[in-house]
Amino acid sequence: MQFLKPIIGVLIAYLLIKIGVPFLGSLHHPGTWPVVPTAVMKMYLTFIIAGAFVACTFDEEGYNALITPVVDLYSNPAKAKLRLCAVTAVSLLGCWIAYQYVKPTFDAPVELRSVHPAPPSSVTMWNKSYPLQTLKNPFRAPDKAQLAKFTEEGGVIYYQNCFYCHGDKQDGKGHFAQAFNPMPANFVDVGTIAMLTESFVFWRVGSGGPGLPSEGTPWASAMPVWNTMLSEEEVWKAILFIYDQSGVQPRVTDVVAEKK
Ligand code: HEC
Repeated sequence: MQFLKPIIGVLIAYLLIKIGVPFLGSLHHPGTWPVVPTAVMKMYLTFIIAGAFVACTFDEEGYNALITPVVDLYSNPAKAKLRLCAVTAVSLLGCWIAYQYVKPTFDAPVELRSVHPAPPSSVTMWNKSYPLQTLKNPFRAPDKAQLAKFTEEGGVIYYQNCFYCHGDKQDGKGHFAQAFNPMPANFVDVGTIAMLTESFVFWRVGSGGPGLPSEGTPWASAMPVWNTMLSEEEVWKAILFIYDQSGVQPRVTDVVAEKK
C-alpha cells in the first residue's frame, strides 16, 4: 500500500489549500470566506503532484513500491477483471474531462474584451454623420416643463422597445434578460450609463451590438440596432428617460472648457 502515501499526501495538501487558506483569510477578515481561484489551485496541485512523485521515487525502493502494483495490475493474468475495471474507469475519467471542456457554458467568454470600447470619432446613422465628441442631446432642454415632456415621451419609447430587456427598474433584468449573455446593461449600476456621455450612449443605442468595434468582441451582444427601427429623436428621448429613471447623470467631458 506504499502507493497510497503520495495520494493521501496530495489529498491533504488539496484540503489545506481548499479549506485551510480560506480559513486563515476568514480569521483575518471575520465574516468572509475567500475563495482560492481555480487557476491557482491547478498550479499548486501540479507542483504538489510532481513533488509527491519525485519524493516517492527518490530511491529504487520507493520507485518499486510505487510502480509494482501498477505493473502487477496490468500484467497479472489473475487480475483480468480488476484490470478491465481500471481501464474502464480511466477511460470514463478521460471522457468526463473532455466533456467538461467542450460542453456549452453560460459563463462570459474568457477572452479579453472591452465592455466600453473607445467609440469611433464619428458615426453614420440615419444617413447622417455624427461627430461623437461634440454631440449633445438636443432634447435636454433647459426649460423644466419641456424636459419633463420629452422625458415622458422617452418613457413611452422605453416601455415599447427597451423594457423587455433592460427592465422596469432599469436594472437589466427585463423578461428576456436571462436569455442573453452578456445580460442587458444595468443602467442603475455606476459602471454603465452613469460613466458614459450621452453621445456615447447615443452611438451604442443607435448601432447596437453589431456596431461594437473589434475590441468589444468576441461578444454576442443582443442589443438591437435601433437606428433601423427608431428615429433619431426617439433614441434621444429614450436616453433622457433612462437617465431620469435610473437617477444617474450623464458624464460630461467638457465642463471646464465650457466655463471659460
Ligand atoms: C433584446 C434585448 C435588448 C433590448 C430590447 C434593448 N437592449 Fe440595450 N442592451 C442589451 C444588451 C444585451 C446589452 C449589453 C451588451 C452591449 O452593451 O451591447 C445592452 C446594452 C445597452 C446599452 C449600453 C450600456 C453600456 O454600459 O455600454 C445601452 C445604452 C442600451 N442597451 C440602451 C437600450 C435602449 C435605450 C433600448 C431601447 C431603445 C434598448 N437598450 C433595448 C439588450 C437589449
